[in-house]
Amino acid sequence: MRIPLIAGNWKMFKTKAEAKAFAEEFKKLYKDTDVQAAICAPFTDLALLKECFDGTSIKVGAQNVHFADEGAYTGEISVAMLEEIGVDFCIVGHSERREYFAETDETVNLKLRKLFEGPIRPILCVGESLEQRDAGKAFDVVKAQLEADLDQIGAADIARLVIAYEPIWAIGTGRTATPEQAEEMCAFIRDTLIGLYDEDTADQVIIQYGGSVKPANATEIMNMDEIDGALVGGASLKAGDFMEIIDF
Ligand code: 13P
Repeated sequence: MRIPLIAGNWKMFKTKAEAKAFAEEFKKLYKDTDVQAAICAPFTDLALLKECFDGTSIKVGAQNVHFADEGAYTGEISVAMLEEIGVDFCIVGHSERREYFAETDETVNLKLRKLFEGPIRPILCVGESLEQRDAGKAFDVVKAQLEADLDQIGAADIARLVIAYEPIWAIGTGRTATPEQAEEMCAFIRDTLIGLYDEDTADQVIIQYGGSVKPANATEIMNMDEIDGALVGGASLKAGDFMEIIDF
């Protein structure tokens, strides 16, 4: 049985003081539901959030990691550094990192493989651009991303994977994919996993939708059969909005 995961992606928002104010408000509003809640925050907020959410079921995630154990990689953060903080999840391959920070399927694959050596669960982001969708290539693009990103990763690890389908044209644009479009791609992702692995393994993978999810559309998205959760950008920055989404 898959437990849905609704994760906030704060992107480059919230200083430590702002994160603390959010956490205090969110803890007051928070009630356990049938979904797992998580916040993926900037590195500088992670330790504080782990401490604030201690004793609750709220999980904490990072938004990126480096694939080397350690080394001369100025500005980077290792898996061991995240593990020491006790981080539960780590986003890998977000389209903003692919677009602005030269993330490739190859580096995404290396990051996933490094994360799978330890307990942190990766949230792998895939999704097509508007140009690719309009050209009828959305499914081919997502399939190619999955094949490359999951190269040499075994079924035992895949069962711990979270995949976020985030059409680039729906991120931060207010233009949400229709529930049917999101459902269709999430089903296609699971079929692709069945092809790459097997039905049992594919069945365990949480497949989220991300892109302009907000309180007003969370229910129709979360009620789709093939969608196991959401990756929420802008609407996760306000404790009240994020709680409304979790309690859809
Ligand atoms: P928005 O919810 O702001 O569209 O962002 C989506 C996203 O990129 C989550 O990772």
